[in-house]
Amino acid sequence: MSSLTIRQARKADAREVAHVHVDTWRTTYRGLMPDSVLEGLSYERSQAKWESFMEQSDRVLLVAGVPYNDETEAAPYRQSEGRVVGFAAAGPAMGTASSARDGEVYAIYVLKSYQGQGIGRMLLQAAAGYLYGQGREAMIVRVLSDNPYRAFYERLGATPVRTEELEIAGVVLAETVYRWADTGTLRRSRTGPGCVRPIQRNTSG
Ligand SMILES: CC(C)(COP(=O)(O)OP(=O)(O)OC[C@H]1O[C@@H](n2cnc3c(N)ncnc32)[C@H](O)[C@@H]1OP(=O)(O)O)[C@@H](O)C(=O)NCCC(=O)NCCS
Repeated sequence: MSSLTIRQARKADAREVAHVHVDTWRTTYRGLMPDSVLEGLSYERSQAKWESFMEQSDRVLLVAGVPYNDETEAAPYRQSEGRVVGFAAAGPAMGTASSARDGEVYAIYVLKSYQGQGIGRMLLQAAAGYLYGQGREAMIVRVLSDNPYRAFYERLGATPVRTEELEIAGVVLAETVYRWADTGTLRRSRTGPGCVRPIQRNTSG
């Protein structure tokens, strides 16, 4: 996938990010989360959430883009920089159990048809690079304990450090917190042939 680009999202990307978010939740969490949660997801609400997320100065939203297949695909909201097929959101670690110096990947999703091609690794590396630039060498991620994709984090060097409870739609789910004490190895490990742009704070919409 030589034409893949990892870059910081702009406001105009929020609509496609929302589609990746909602669609990937539905393909990943069926059977893991209450159906009512998945059926209640909304592209519009997700778009609004990501638009406001991008306004926070200590957080970053990264997107993986690929060229459109042809001139008409995804109109009318196509972006000049290609179709968003994955994203990652990162910033300071949330919750009191984490060190104030830890970073966190709040979300990382790749569309099902693009999984297994190295995009998740590139997004995670870019997130770790951004957090390192903020002085955060350690990084955590929370994953549903029953989510088989947790093996992705183990493959990329994270260690499970504790479990927490997440209440969603009246159901209590177990989450495993993974941690990299130092993301150096992850940040320097090999990536695919795509292009990762230097990640800086976005100042333009
Ligand atoms: C988890 C996710 C982000 C990984 O992205 P991806 O592009 O599919 O992963 P990559 O192709 O970059 O994989 C990187 C490495 O992790 C391994 N890996 C990825 N998913 C894996 C899995 N489910 N089980 C075991 N290993 C896995 C790959 O084999 C690869 O190892 P390699 O470099 O030795 O070949 C993506 O699959 C996804 O969006 N899954 C569904 C949503 C989800 O669960 N997100 C996490 C919520 S906390």
